[in-house]
Amino acid sequence: MRGRFVTFEGIEGVGKSTQLALAADWLRGRGVRVVTTREPGGTPLAESLRSLLLEPGPQRMNGTTELLLMFAARASHVADLIAPALAQGHWVLCDRFTDATRAYQGAGRGIPAGWIEQLAAIAHPGLSPDLTLLFDAPVALALARARARPDRPDRFEQEELAFFERVRAAYLELAAGERARLRCIAAGDEPGVVAAAVARELDILLGKSQ
Ligand code: TMP
Repeated sequence: MRGRFVTFEGIEGVGKSTQLALAADWLRGRGVRVVTTREPGGTPLAESLRSLLLEPGPQRMNGTTELLLMFAARASHVADLIAPALAQGHWVLCDRFTDATRAYQGAGRGIPAGWIEQLAAIAHPGLSPDLTLLFDAPVALALARARARPDRPDRFEQEELAFFERVRAAYLELAAGERARLRCIAAGDEPGVVAAAVARELDILLGKSQ
């Protein structure tokens, strides 16, 4: 049986990567075979593209270049890792996917939605997440957490507050429009409380998958 594709979304600092690791443990504890991965990245080629996308290099990257690099990375990731893993029956837990492009490149950078959907149809025809967990928290809270990390801010983390407000609003709008797939989880609570909310959503999907 084909595995399930679960994506984790939200602005920086909402704790989605921590929650993804906890979710993987929770599922493995229930006998599910799990692959965890991230975007941009997940294959050697896509990880190289990630470096280009995130490094705050001296040269400006325009929005169209950024968009095409995101989808180039995604096409490699889907073809060489996600689709084969799903076909082998693994559940794939992915830190960000095309909803991130809708939110960051669409709302954040002003890229037309139609371009994003056309590229999605090319990069991953017929593939959409079975479940997307959207971790939501106020921008000020999330960014304060992200900026407290020791690593140097990447190209996105250097954006202004208004950029992240647009991204957060776009995510919430996506969730409102697709309630069955996109489940919004309050990320301001203690990690254990958030993990329990995640487990409830996974349990429902697990129930549907048996
Ligand atoms: P992260 O690993 O901290 O989530 O960093 C990835 C960054 O890339 C994050 O700032 C969001 C951004 N991003 C996009 O702008 N569009 C995309 O489609 C994806 C997958 C990520």
